[in-house]
Amino acid sequence: MSQENLTSEIRSVPTDQRYPVTAAIRSRRTIFQFKPGAVPRDVLEEILEAGIWSPNHHLTEPWRFTVIGEETKLTLAERYSEIQIEKITSNPKAAAAADEETLAKVGEQGFKKFTSKPTIVAVSCLQEGDDQRKREDYAATCCAMLNIQLAGWERGVGMQWSTGAITMEQNTYDLLGIDSGQEYIIGFYYMGYPAEVPTHERKPVDEQIRWTS
Ligand SMILES: Cc1cc2nc3c(=O)[nH]c(=O)nc-3n(C[C@H](O)[C@H](O)[C@H](O)COP(=O)(O)O)c2cc1C
Repeated sequence: MSQENLTSEIRSVPTDQRYPVTAAIRSRRTIFQFKPGAVPRDVLEEILEAGIWSPNHHLTEPWRFTVIGEETKLTLAERYSEIQIEKITSNPKAAAAADEETLAKVGEQGFKKFTSKPTIVAVSCLQEGDDQRKREDYAATCCAMLNIQLAGWERGVGMQWSTGAITMEQNTYDLLGIDSGQEYIIGFYYMGYPAEVPTHERKPVDEQIRWTS
């Protein structure tokens, strides 16, 4: 179909159905609270499959997905809980104000928070070639991450992209069997069916566009 025909065909569709991709982009929100229940494996595979159609220079397909199993999740949750305590104990002012009971509570809440994420996927990108290749592969994997989030959204699955401390530790690489010399973990995706969808505003786009002559 010619571009002209395609354009007039699109214009004949009611406005609210005309741009489903834009509608998904605008309505997508980061999800922090999930209903119990993991994302079924077939749905997760479909969502991740959408990610691999993302643009990638020289077709390096640099993305790798590590789906975290229940046992591994519990080990990570223990460490996540320690990190929450360390955030307090590493800050002299906060440490002075916190007693043992408070720290134990913080640890417990951290464990609960981490285990409340129904499905967790670590997304990493290959670390191959020169700096330019690494930059492009990182960017391509970020494109895949957004497409995964949108494909999830389309299926009612929400996500939070996390770059928290636990995603960066060598311990995490070792636990997940990811060689940190070969791959870089861009983040974890905490996923599930949303219990709550936050609302956000954006500044008008004309504040962010620069037009040159
Ligand atoms: C690269 C990247 C890293 C992020 N890391 C975190 C994170 O560590 N913790 C968190 O709560 N949200 C994280 N987010 C989610 C953002 O906070 C979220 O996208 C932002 O609040 C805007 O909300 P929205 O996604 O609903 O539009 C991250 C998002 C991106 C793109």
